[in-house]
Amino acid sequence: MDKTLITAHHLRGELNVPGDKSISHRAVMIGSIGEGTSEIDGFLNAADPRSTLECIRALGIETTLTSQTLRIIGRGLHGYHKPDAMLDAGNSGTTMRLLSGILSGQRFPSQITGDQYLLRRPMKRIIDPLTEMGAQIVGTDKFTAPLKIFPSDRLHAITYELPVPSAQVKSAILFAGLYAEGLTRVEESQPSRDHTERMLGLSSTSSHGKKIVAVEGGRRVEASRFFIPGDPSSAAFFIVAALIVPNSEVLIRNVGLNPSRTGFLETLRAMGGNIRMENERSIGGEPVGDILVTTSALHSDIVLKGSVIPNIIDEIPILAVAAAFAPGRFEVRDAFELRNKECDRIGAVCENLLLMGIDVEEFDDGFAFESNNNLIPSHFDSFGDHRIAMAFGVAAIGLPGESTLRESECVGISFPTFWDVLHTLAN
Ligand code: S3P
Repeated sequence: MDKTLITAHHLRGELNVPGDKSISHRAVMIGSIGEGTSEIDGFLNAADPRSTLECIRALGIETTLTSQTLRIIGRGLHGYHKPDAMLDAGNSGTTMRLLSGILSGQRFPSQITGDQYLLRRPMKRIIDPLTEMGAQIVGTDKFTAPLKIFPSDRLHAITYELPVPSAQVKSAILFAGLYAEGLTRVEESQPSRDHTERMLGLSSTSSHGKKIVAVEGGRRVEASRFFIPGDPSSAAFFIVAALIVPNSEVLIRNVGLNPSRTGFLETLRAMGGNIRMENERSIGGEPVGDILVTTSALHSDIVLKGSVIPNIIDEIPILAVAAAFAPGRFEVRDAFELRNKECDRIGAVCENLLLMGIDVEEFDDGFAFESNNNLIPSHFDSFGDHRIAMAFGVAAIGLPGESTLRESECVGISFPTFWDVLHTLAN
């Protein structure tokens, strides 16, 4: 559905962003292999985590979802039943990759597929390490989904250095490690988000500049009560919106502030953003706070590259939008991974920036541009990608006049009420 968006003259008010997507997926998966009933408060009831929920239901796990709480009755590591049909991960790479780790340890065969976007995304990154652990997992000739997973005689522990900095790959190996004989170790030279290790209570150490997370095979997973904070990646859209729209003041409550996710806040502060943290606290093992943002005179003279990239990987499109409204030269490098997301996000960002009248230079692993004072309203494309839709929805309200956005409904993947919230703040 095309959406028409007009210039906002202010953004004012308070909001709660929906629950963290990464933590929601993990809470469902951990609850489903836990011993007993887990309760999840703040579950993100959006298409992506619902894909995970549907998969574990298809695996015979009983769940009840009310407006307050998601209850999951886990039956331990081997409590799943063989599914009647192919599992469907929808648009969700996290569902497919993490669940494949768990499915590799099951005593029945399973298959997992996804939508047209997910079927294009690379799965070799999980097929390789899981195969090294003894799993029987095959994809297409191009190492994409659908994936077929056959029961293996036994999984064994490995030590694996991540060739790409990916929390999804790390987590798939750690989940499979629960089913393996021995101590599985995952080494990362560029730290990725650490929710899996936090939520499973795994120890991590550092050696020679690498982080090493270890999991003991056969380890019992306890049922838990999970409190899911607001998603910082969803908050990022309103933070940038409030920074670039004049006369704005927005308070976002209850946002997760896990340091492996908040690099974008430091970036925006370095660009001159007036962002204040209030009421910082810890909830369910994750740091949380309220974020107060006011309109700021941003500059975009910044190069984002190297080890910060995994931390800000989901925020690069909205950071590019912030930079589009600020003088200076903005450059992103070492971010080839962006081409493997829900769409090719480097291509999508460059195409939409060009439409706005920005002369952007595209690299294999990033892009660079200098903004100008003649930005023009545009017919943006979301490319069916929720984060591109929200980023250029924010751009649209900062531009003079009327813009449109193609396939705007894809925000339902992570933030179903996004357009309503934006509308309320602007009125
Ligand atoms: C996620 C990890 C990131 C991120 C994705 C969610 C997760 O992907 O882009 O939106 O929940 O582990 P990679 O770890 O593959 O970079």
